[in-house]
Amino acid sequence: MTRHEKIEILILDDEKQFTEELHEFLQKSGHESFETNTYPEARHILANHEIDLMILDVRLPGIDGLDILKEVKAKHPNLEVVIISAHGDMDTVIKAMRLGAFDYLRKPFRHIDIQIVVERTRKYLHLQRKLKLVEERNSLISKTLEEKIDRHFIGVSVKIRDIFDAALAAAQYRDANVLITGESGTGKENVARIIHYSGSRKEHIFCAVNSSAITDSLLESEFFGHKKGSFTGAVTDKMGYFEVSNQGTLFLDEIADMPLNLQAKILRAAEEKVITRVGDTKTIKTDFRIISSTNHDIQKRVSENKFRLDLLHRLNTVHIHIPPLRERPEDIKPLLIHFTDHFAQKLNRSIAINEDVFKRLERYPFPGNIRELKNMAERAIILCKFNSLSIEDFPLTSHSNGAVEVNNEMANLKSIEVDMIRKALLQSQFNQKAAADILGITRDALIRKMKKYNISIGKAEN
Ligand SMILES: Nc1ncnc2c1ncn2[C@@H]1O[C@H](COP(=O)(O)OP(=O)(O)OP(=O)(O)O)[C@@H](O)[C@H]1O
Ligand SMILES: [Mg+2]
Repeated sequence: MTRHEKIEILILDDEKQFTEELHEFLQKSGHESFETNTYPEARHILANHEIDLMILDVRLPGIDGLDILKEVKAKHPNLEVVIISAHGDMDTVIKAMRLGAFDYLRKPFRHIDIQIVVERTRKYLHLQRKLKLVEERNSLISKTLEEKIDRHFIGVSVKIRDIFDAALAAAQYRDANVLITGESGTGKENVARIIHYSGSRKEHIFCAVNSSAITDSLLESEFFGHKKGSFTGAVTDKMGYFEVSNQGTLFLDEIADMPLNLQAKILRAAEEKVITRVGDTKTIKTDFRIISSTNHDIQKRVSENKFRLDLLHRLNTVHIHIPPLRERPEDIKPLLIHFTDHFAQKLNRSIAINEDVFKRLERYPFPGNIRELKNMAERAIILCKFNSLSIEDFPLTSHSNGAVEVNNEMANLKSIEVDMIRKALLQSQFNQKAAADILGITRDALIRKMKKYNISIGKAEN
């Protein structure tokens, strides 16, 4: 029903002249109108038309108008009733309003009175329907999200099923902060989204923040917002992540890289759920849950005094650790099938996988974990010329000289990673983004690993 749309109105009153006059007036005002003097006929009209508004005389001979009101409201919940009352009938009016009547008109009334009532009802119905549409759309969105989550969480190993169960359990505790640890590409953000979209915050924002990607000078205002003019560049008032995440989830990716001075402020915000914008004195309440993630050994950071122990305690009410893919090789096959299906579908192709591919990949250490496997699948599907994938379609065979194949006990992963990173850098002519793509990890992750293993571009060249 748009603003100018007419509504359908039914008039029930025992005075024939009155109903006819009113009917004529409403028709002239552009509404669809029906009139009757008996309840059985009114019932018939209600059953056969989509009546929006019923104008009901509560003083009909031989029947209690309030009973009619009750019955009509019960049978037609989307219909509004305006009752007509006589002078000195306040008791009935009050009862009718309690039974759900929308409004009342007192006889005798002027045309302007009825016009106002009809317009009010029309507006009300319009808003109500709009709200219903939004609600339906929201519940549809959450349904598709839920389906998506289910479809995108692949894994058959006991380890990963336990993680899925832990995520669903954490989702039920609206205010519990969750820390997710695991190597790069193991699916930390994926699990964070599952927690968000399976809990009561799902209709609100999932605000993902990678603090290592923000310059130190801007960090505080990004998190807490700022008041206009509080520093050069603050040209308007601005909300920070804590405020934006109100009622939703604040996902702090790579939490271990958070500068110490900000850690103290984040701790206070997480404890008090109250923040103050930079340059302001006013406090603002905000209700968020923090899910944080890191691929560093955060305990080690604490012992090196690089991470506050009190903040760690605040963040890890629930701790979920995702083991690397090489520790759960049984997940490789279903993941590979899932990703190849996904990419093949995009290209409208149907592609099978030779059994020896699984065997080979199950012995590969996957330093970039699931992300690496996903990228491998995409590349294989794009480049494959036939309708099946064989070992040749997977770059580890061509890039690795066999050196990266390991069995599960192989200890010297570090040297393999270093080797792979160097090869990828060489192959990409030291373009970090391209090298990260080859390795199936993010550029950030590559830079972190280069720092960790002390690989400089100069060294790699040697
Ligand atoms: N169990 C899973 N089933 C299907 N896809 C997954 C699963 N876990 C992760 N993925 C996919 O793998 C990719 C990497 O996952 P994600 O970004 O969550 O990893 P991460 O641990 O946050 O990585 P990083 O440490 O590099 O930020 C994403 O494309 C994600 O959709
Ligand atoms: Mg991530």
